[in-house]
Amino acid sequence: MQRGTFVGTYCGGRGTLVRLLCFTSFVVASALVLPVALRAEVEVTDFGKTADGKAVKAFTITNSKGVVVKLISRGATLAEWRVPDKHGKMDDVIFGFDDVAGYESKDNGYFGATVGRVANRIAGGKFKIDGEEYTLAKNDGPNTLHGGVKRSLDKVVWNGKPIKNQDGEGVAFTYTSPDGEEGFPGKLDCKVTYLLTNKNALRIDYEATTDQATPVNLTNHTYFNLSGAGSPTINDHELMIAADHYTPIDATLIPTGEIAPVEGTPFDFREFHKIGERVDQLNDQPGKGYDHNFVLNNQAGKLALAVKLHEPKSGRVLSVFTTEPGLQFYGGNFLTGAKAKGGKTYAYRSGLCLETQHYPNSVNEPKFPSMLLQPGRTYKHTCVYQITTE
Ligand code: GAL
Repeated sequence: MQRGTFVGTYCGGRGTLVRLLCFTSFVVASALVLPVALRAEVEVTDFGKTADGKAVKAFTITNSKGVVVKLISRGATLAEWRVPDKHGKMDDVIFGFDDVAGYESKDNGYFGATVGRVANRIAGGKFKIDGEEYTLAKNDGPNTLHGGVKRSLDKVVWNGKPIKNQDGEGVAFTYTSPDGEEGFPGKLDCKVTYLLTNKNALRIDYEATTDQATPVNLTNHTYFNLSGAGSPTINDHELMIAADHYTPIDATLIPTGEIAPVEGTPFDFREFHKIGERVDQLNDQPGKGYDHNFVLNNQAGKLALAVKLHEPKSGRVLSVFTTEPGLQFYGGNFLTGAKAKGGKTYAYRSGLCLETQHYPNSVNEPKFPSMLLQPGRTYKHTCVYQITTE
């Protein structure tokens, strides 16, 4: 085990007795003081190996409130988040697996992963930049989903380094995607930094640079169930989304290009609604439930509140802040009972994703904010997930 920060003692080495006394007092002091101090450190452990032999690291962060976040280097993935409920009972509220094989299995619906180069769908697996057409592998009917098939950002092993600043502790993950990887033009240098604060906020900062014009849309694909991951449903969660509009979709879940008002539809979450209240009206619609991009009211690129999610029994509240113009609210309609962490299973609609991002298929839709990154510019995106109780 290696630690992100060094814990030292200031005893000078003189005689054996002094050293022994020093050592004893260090052990006693450690027992009294260090458990608290150590909790504020990033603990780095081996998580196992990928099928092709790459080592995967786990990074565990514990803040001063005893909240625990675990990240793994495969897919720069958020793997665990233990938070208290209103009575102080701790639960892990996000989906994940106990080992790398779980993450590599077909049961993994991008649990907790960093998704890209282009999160969400690209229609027909094709796009053009300056008249040149690029073709990607299709992995979702006629479309490309979440950056491709073999070397999308959720599947590669990133380089992780513990970090610390005045707000908290975290991990900076980096990965360089070579020119042409998964069919995308340009070499893309990506950085995703997670920081857990003592206010139980998990801040995620994304950055990317390229040497050729290329589409970029990075997001995080954590599934939340605020009753604890493995609880039967999210239909009892109350949701608020700060969006007056959403983007309607066609039969393959590609936005039609229309920016439609949420008013009078099951997509109106401007006030809190239970997710289960209107979801069945969408069962026969494309997406078969909630699986839509919301056009956030904040289009200024400044960090602002986008979502609040409240689970009444535990009293847990998730607030999502972002700089991005869109939010994919995916209600777990494709979950079919994956066997996962701690022997839990993840049933249909038992977890939801709140993916801050650019709108799906923006690379082919001139009416949507552009996701094209030019050389010399830096892609930046911040998302803060904060869990509190009420
Ligand atoms: C979501 C997407 C869903 C589904 C899911 C992965 O981001 O909106 O349609 O593909 O990922 O199972």
